[in-house]
Amino acid sequence: MTDATPVTPGTPAAPRPKRVRVHHLREAKERGERLTMLTAYDYPTARIFDDAGIDMLLVGDSMGNTMHGRATTIPVTVDELIPAVRAVSAASRRALVVADLPFGSYEATAEQAFATAVRMLKEGDAHAVKFEGGTRVVPQVRLLTEAGIPVVGHLGFTPQSENLLGGKRVQGRGDDAAERLSADAVALQEAGAVAVVLEMVPAPLAARITEVLRIPTIGIGAGPECDGQVLVWLDMAGMGDWSPRFAKQFAAVGQALGDAARAYADEVRSGAFPDAGHSFLE
Ligand code: KIV
Repeated sequence: MTDATPVTPGTPAAPRPKRVRVHHLREAKERGERLTMLTAYDYPTARIFDDAGIDMLLVGDSMGNTMHGRATTIPVTVDELIPAVRAVSAASRRALVVADLPFGSYEATAEQAFATAVRMLKEGDAHAVKFEGGTRVVPQVRLLTEAGIPVVGHLGFTPQSENLLGGKRVQGRGDDAAERLSADAVALQEAGAVAVVLEMVPAPLAARITEVLRIPTIGIGAGPECDGQVLVWLDMAGMGDWSPRFAKQFAAVGQALGDAARAYADEVRSGAFPDAGHSFLE
């Protein structure tokens, strides 16, 4: 989607851009327009991505790895995610804000998923929620959809199940696995999901699922034929200490920040900062 009205931070009275809504996702697919999604976990980066016209901001439980230094997403809690969702929602003028439901907060019953999703909308101001799984979470998707809460599905490599899946592995290889994954995608659509993330899925399988579904597929390590793409922003911007093979680095923000910190420290140590221009002289 390309109808973003750019907003310069600090510029007053910029016209409010039109909010991306769930019906726009399906319309974009019908028009063959690719959708963009990035993770965001705080106000300043969410503001930058929203201004850049990113269609969807995902407050992913990847926050546990990327921002809190945990080894997996499994320890992430609802209470940890909600302040991040609130900050990203506060920053977003155009993007659809999607809140991840963390491990243990939705799997047991549809009612448990509903209670968690309500918190994401009421306390975090999210517009939609995302959770992992296919057929096994159909009751959850159905109840939330009936209650007016848009759901984004997540199939393929699902990090919350990494202990069962045996690590970060491409999913859907082989005829049976491909069949199961396709059936899961259709089941999510029929239950009311508004989009489905496909993570680490062979590109030809992702292309077939994309062709079959009416709702958009959002790929991450799932090839070029998905209806949209999502990346963890630190991978995309060159901020992380590790990034997966499928994540292209579009900038070297970590390098730039390190250079800025070293330049600052040099000037403080030499006495060059603060100079007269950065001091109150009376
Ligand atoms: O938590 C997350 O960032 C995600 C994306 C990798 C899709 O689920």
